[in-house]
Amino acid sequence: MLKINNLHAGYDKIEILKGVNIDVKNNEIIALIGPNGAGKSTILKSIFNLCNIYSGEIIFKDKNITKLQTYELIHEGISYVPQGRQIFRELTVKENLEMGAFILDKNVMKRNIKDVYQKFPFLKEKRNEYAINLSGGQQQLLAIGRALMQNPQLLLLDEPSLGLSPKSMKEMFNKIKEINKEGVSIIIVEQNAKQSVEIADRTYILEDGKIALNGGKEILKNKKLKDIYFGGR
Ligand SMILES: Nc1ncnc2c1ncn2[C@@H]1O[C@H](COP(=O)(O)OP(=O)(O)OP(=O)(O)O)[C@@H](O)[C@H]1O
Ligand SMILES: [Mg+2]
Repeated sequence: MLKINNLHAGYDKIEILKGVNIDVKNNEIIALIGPNGAGKSTILKSIFNLCNIYSGEIIFKDKNITKLQTYELIHEGISYVPQGRQIFRELTVKENLEMGAFILDKNVMKRNIKDVYQKFPFLKEKRNEYAINLSGGQQQLLAIGRALMQNPQLLLLDEPSLGLSPKSMKEMFNKIKEINKEGVSIIIVEQNAKQSVEIADRTYILEDGKIALNGGKEILKNKKLKDIYFGGR
């Protein structure tokens, strides 16, 4: 459903991605891992048109979306949860969810908020609480809930497990699997290599702006993995 072809992208004149190729099939979970600064977040930002693309193309459901604006991408069916759960801490849970769908029709918004409450019952219970009063894990789920308000076919998640306790982390990965089972394709960027490879159908490993390895769960046993993470290139 998504094809990234020979993508060169970065910020101003600094090239970060140096010819990236990624292929996401319908209903897949794709993990994107690699050391700090490798360019993982930049890949998600380039899909969502939040950095500079110098060459290459991004195709979503046979349409070239490389130059579309962010709101157009949301209408195409792509939603993005940035690194560091950027929720509105001074707004209530319900207001946060509504912010996710403000570009959509009112009736669609009502239907979607029902769906999100069904998926995350605690959000319904806490709908009138300020987001700042939620735990870290709950805030992250709120950020994902907000993205789901847009009814995406492809969900981009940037380090959803960052800063979570092992228990919340497990819940998070389970929720991600659940969302995927309901027909949403997912690209998940993670520091937590092991857990993300385990929930993913396939994994891409990024090193210095290039895909160094890709494959299934067996990738965890690849000898190159250690070199990529701990140097020794
Ligand atoms: N807005 C920006 N302007 C200029 N350079 C940036 C910007 N954002 C990121 N970079 C640089 O781009 C490179 C890749 O950053 P990116 O955030 O994509 O890495 P990452 O793999 O997501 O790392 P991390 O695991 O730390 O989140 C880094 O060298 C970073 O300093
Ligand atoms: Mg990052």
